[in-house]
Amino acid sequence: MASNNESIGKTLGVVVGLCLVCAVVVSMAAVQLRPLQQANKTQDVQRNILAAAGFTDVKNVSETFNANIEARLVNLESGEFVTDKSLSGLDVDNEIDKFDFEMTKFDAKRSFKLEKANDLAGVQRMTTESPVYFAKNDSGKVETIILPVQGYGLWGIMYGFLALDTDTKTVKAINFYKHNETPGLGGEIQNPKWTATWEDKQLPVDIVKGTAGNNVHKVDGLSGATLTSVGVDNTFKFWTSDKAFGPFLAKVREGALN
Ligand SMILES: Cc1cc2nc3c(=O)[nH]c(=O)nc-3n(C[C@H](O)[C@H](O)[C@H](O)COP(=O)(O)O)c2cc1C
Repeated sequence: MASNNESIGKTLGVVVGLCLVCAVVVSMAAVQLRPLQQANKTQDVQRNILAAAGFTDVKNVSETFNANIEARLVNLESGEFVTDKSLSGLDVDNEIDKFDFEMTKFDAKRSFKLEKANDLAGVQRMTTESPVYFAKNDSGKVETIILPVQGYGLWGIMYGFLALDTDTKTVKAINFYKHNETPGLGGEIQNPKWTATWEDKQLPVDIVKGTAGNNVHKVDGLSGATLTSVGVDNTFKFWTSDKAFGPFLAKVREGALN
């Protein structure tokens, strides 16, 4: 005969009790670790902004970022800096808006749906503001403008940065840091050998199939990854167009950074 401890009631009690304890531990861990996860994410984005600005092998990311990079919000329609927080869909002081800037995450309050005809990068939703980052030299002069870009590759949205000279035309670097492209094929968008081929190219840049040569407006696409290459081409074209950073870049040419 079963002893008291093996009764169905007690067994169920232990199972339910154990489930409850585990559920509480897991949810407490999730809640408590969230700020740490966000901080790590912010650091990862900052590391990639620094890399786009030419800072590699950075030991203390936050310190180097704060010493050399300024993050600001820009109104994409007017091209002007957002100074009044109350007018902004994004928050100038919010870490998530400044460093975790993913269109797909934004709800209808903070973003609008893009018509297909206007959605070259395939982002579907668009905000009226965007963060931009400025790398400054020791005397505080802006040397590099770093634009966050995002666009559809073959398997999903690719997130990256386009670093431009203050002439707004010369590409200093490109850096994709998050994507779903296939390693060895589309994933080669992160290959330093390929990203180096972008240096000193002049906007507008076309991605072509093996015919770029020394043409300053052309870059060779990745072989075996034409679809990803087309996605990259569309992404940079969209974000430098009048529908995105075009008005801001025009303001820079008019002296907005002086
Ligand atoms: C499993 C698998 C994964 C692939 N991943 C990619 C990719 O990430 N990016 C891409 O452009 N093409 C990828 N392709 C290849 C595309 O289907 C297509 O063949 C290629 O983009 C054509 O490029 P090419 O004209 O340079 O040969 C993949 C194909 C297979 C079978």
